[in-house]
Amino acid sequence: MIRFRNVIKVYGTQRALDCVNLHIKVGEFVFLTGTSGAGKSTIMRLTYREEKPTRGQVVIGGVDVAKLPHNKVPYLRRRMGIVFQDFKLLSKQNVFDNVAFVIRALGMSDREINRRVSGALKVVRLYDRLDAFPSQLSGGEQQRVGIARAIVNGPPLLIADEPTGNLDPQTSMEIMEILEQINNRGTTVLLATHDKEMVNHFKKRVITVEDGKVIRDIYEGTYE
Ligand SMILES: Nc1ncnc2c1ncn2[C@@H]1O[C@H](COP(=O)(O)OP(=O)(O)O)[C@@H](O)[C@H]1O
Ligand SMILES: [Mg+2]
Repeated sequence: MIRFRNVIKVYGTQRALDCVNLHIKVGEFVFLTGTSGAGKSTIMRLTYREEKPTRGQVVIGGVDVAKLPHNKVPYLRRRMGIVFQDFKLLSKQNVFDNVAFVIRALGMSDREINRRVSGALKVVRLYDRLDAFPSQLSGGEQQRVGIARAIVNGPPLLIADEPTGNLDPQTSMEIMEILEQINNRGTTVLLATHDKEMVNHFKKRVITVEDGKVIRDIYEGTYE
């Protein structure tokens, strides 16, 4: 599903990734850990083709993202859901419309949009807050809307960059449980975090980066 081959990423004179090799298979749940500045977000941005590698290859679902023409990038993105630390919700739109936003552009019928949005909101247990606006929701609820938006189109891959970075420990655990459920239904999940407790509690594959290099890759791992 995700393969990095000898990936180097340089920003100006700053080397963010230094020969990264990764292979994440369909259906896996992977924690990407490491201190601030280690290179986690750079790996995420290369995966959803926000950036291209300076050298090496990033292959997502068999597609070399650097070779993908600009007008094909939306097709790649449609096959992945992205969850952000700061939620990135539309403040003037209610929960339903925030989740519907991405699939409305795809020309689906209202009935199909309703069906999908309802389904996604049930997964994150927010079906009773369809009409609420982001400002009326707690941080954890806002992030659940962010997750519903990310899965509404049924993507095979979910990418979450520090999704619990702004949340308290208990709320973080709830978010993590939802992501685990989504993974159990077959979605591959790549989650960047430096939340030690969460990583230790869930015992997933843990890939650790430091100074732009993968320094550990352990199944049922812990944070070190
Ligand atoms: N757009 C950018 N321009 C310049 N340097 C960047 C940029 N993005 C990231 N970096 C640098 O690349 C390194 C890795 O950053 P990042 O991937 O954001 O790490 P993390 O997500 O693990 O905190 C850091 O040294 C950071 O300062
Ligand atoms: Mg980051």
